Amino acid sequence: MTTYDFDKVIDRNNTGSVKWGLLHDVFGSSDLHPMWVADMDFPPPAEVTTAIRNRLEHEIFGYTFVPPSVGKAIQAWVKTRHHWEIRQAWITYSSGVVPTISTAVRAFTSVGDKVMLQSPVYTPFFSMVEKNERVVVNSPLKNVNNRYEIDFEDFEAKLKEGVKLFLLCNPHNPSGRVWEKEELLQIGELCKKYNCLILADEIHSDLVFEGNIHVPIASLGDFADFVVTCIAPSKTFNLAGLQASAVITSNQELRDLFQAEQQKQGFHTLNTFGIVGMEAAYLHGETWLTEALAYMAENIRYVQEYLEAELPQIKMMQPEGTYLIWMDCRELGLSDDELKKALIEKGKIGLEPGPKYGTGGEGFVRMNIACSKEHVTEGLKRLKAALS
Ligand SMILES: Cc1ncc(COP(=O)(O)O)c(C=O)c1O
Repeated sequence: MTTYDFDKVIDRNNTGSVKWGLLHDVFGSSDLHPMWVADMDFPPPAEVTTAIRNRLEHEIFGYTFVPPSVGKAIQAWVKTRHHWEIRQAWITYSSGVVPTISTAVRAFTSVGDKVMLQSPVYTPFFSMVEKNERVVVNSPLKNVNNRYEIDFEDFEAKLKEGVKLFLLCNPHNPSGRVWEKEELLQIGELCKKYNCLILADEIHSDLVFEGNIHVPIASLGDFADFVVTCIAPSKTFNLAGLQASAVITSNQELRDLFQAEQQKQGFHTLNTFGIVGMEAAYLHGETWLTEALAYMAENIRYVQEYLEAELPQIKMMQPEGTYLIWMDCRELGLSDDELKKALIEKGKIGLEPGPKYGTGGEGFVRMNIACSKEHVTEGLKRLKAALS
């Protein structure tokens, strides 16, 4: 018996949902089946909604500080879930991980400095570097038998060129790779050797499927002082609209630099409901998360089975974490423009186009399966109509 009914479909139209309401702006057509933006179509844990409702009843929504109980909830969550012991003093709050990437780039590097990433990767990794007039250095991931690996020779060669900051995406969006301890140790040791800071975007860290373990890179080795980690309840519990996240580092100097940059931007606290939602989620969200992960694992299994039977030219990467499926469509022999046109015009489905994630994304699309099985089933039907 499960507590939550993830089969239940809730209409998200006319709620300002980016995924459902901006189809026309992004794809040029509004009658598409949305499986793009990385949020879930599920309501969050009941305790989160109750906590927000209780706060709402108070009816006064003035400036709100983040109380120590939130730090305590985060500390307990990362300890239980990821065996990572942190101090509450290591936590800084931020409205989101993308704002954190931008703030970190400004705080830890100067205009013209090199910032490294590994494509294909979440698009704002590029744009937050470029918009802040720093230089993107790319150490592309290697696709080995339909699974990404790090080319450590290239990684070290790039670090030697004087990279100031490395943006790590773990678990990895768009592929769902969960980097292993040995890989993370190698990353950390190399970054330390070349005096390169690490911004670890671990926003997907709670979304890891059986057989895989998320290891916070800051919990390893003797390079923790080089690492600033981003976590949030937004992906885990579907609270992206609440705009609340945490930035964790044991290095006080980095914390001071980061907070000074936040102050320059006039940032000083979170949204009242973000604070309430974040605390309730980390305190009470475990059962919901266990059930959500099981449901999404089943969706992934279903997609895999369907592709093997109906669209064998499409090879999906097996997500070790995240609710994103990275599909290799290169065997179809279509250009990215042709692929996009077929998906929109023939299939009427909204998927993320691979080239958005930089080099290595050509010929791929990304599907979000954090939705009801019914929605996945319809999506697959449309994928087949578009591409078979
Ligand atoms: C790797 C990664 N980082 C950050 C974000 C967004 O973070 P936020 O909404 O907190 O800015 C996403 C959303 O898809 C993501 O996949």
